[in-house]
Amino acid sequence: MRFAGDGGVVAVPRRHKITVVGAGMTGATTAHWCLVEDLGDVVLYDVVEGLPQGKALDLLEATPLAAVDARIVGTGSWEDTRDSDVVVITAGSPRKPGMSRRDLLTINTAVVSEVARQAMSRSPDAVCIVLTNPVDVMAYVALRSTGLPPQRVVGQAGILDTTRFRAFIAQELGVSVRDVQALVLGGHGDTMVPLIRLAQVGGVPLTELLPKDSLDRIVQRTRQGGAEIVGLLKTASAFYAPGAALAQMVAAVLRDRGRVLPAPAYLQGEYGLQGLYTGVPVILGAGGVLRILEVSLEPEEREAFVRSAAEVRSAMDELPPDF
Ligand code: 2OP
Repeated sequence: MRFAGDGGVVAVPRRHKITVVGAGMTGATTAHWCLVEDLGDVVLYDVVEGLPQGKALDLLEATPLAAVDARIVGTGSWEDTRDSDVVVITAGSPRKPGMSRRDLLTINTAVVSEVARQAMSRSPDAVCIVLTNPVDVMAYVALRSTGLPPQRVVGQAGILDTTRFRAFIAQELGVSVRDVQALVLGGHGDTMVPLIRLAQVGGVPLTELLPKDSLDRIVQRTRQGGAEIVGLLKTASAFYAPGAALAQMVAAVLRDRGRVLPAPAYLQGEYGLQGLYTGVPVILGAGGVLRILEVSLEPEEREAFVRSAAEVRSAMDELPPDF
């Protein structure tokens, strides 16, 4: 930028670049949250001609109202995604009523391995955040197909499961969602492990505020959170909360926040597990997963966590050998 009279060039700081792969409901909603939070410029990629372009243009036209100077483009060309700082993968098929996340494994493995390769070869320094289901397995597919270090490939699930858990607790108690702290571990499926013992409301243990039957009901609703929405929408799965969860992860990386959040991370001995992704608390900052935190678990929590990880492992066994 050249100002009259200064005779020189003023360096304009480079804005962060976020690529969102998949311009369906979740991808577009993620782009929306990223723009509203002013996290950087957004490239919305999809193979469906017109879809990313139309949604990106609509979002661009909203930027004056959001008072955000971000650029957003929709594209079907991988070249436009080059040199991104974060790549978010939402591409693939969502669930239909009656389907489990695992039913999507074969179709989404092909999609995720291809898009992860395409995107990460053009943005080799980016952090890759995977949302496509079954997410614990798809994060592994992205890791293996790109050959990136595990710190830079992380899934999104635990923030979503935990925000559902927190919302239901807040609703039950009639208190602010801001004051509810909680943690959900394990795979993103019916065996996920909402940790009641560690949940707190304004510092007060949740177990002192709600009776066991209410807690059991909330845990069950959290586990079924995705299916409840698929059952209502019928032709789509949830997208507002998943998009918000993704934007929170993008913000943690781009702003190097060191957020402590649950997310599917690649375990290499932590929790006694090796060579798989499952939901654990991580420190998320510049460069991706800075550290995996090991929480000490009570025997029955540990048993539930191991059962959930075993479920992920058995889904991984269904992966084709050469994805
Ligand atoms: C959910 O739980 C889409 O898996 C996602 O809603």
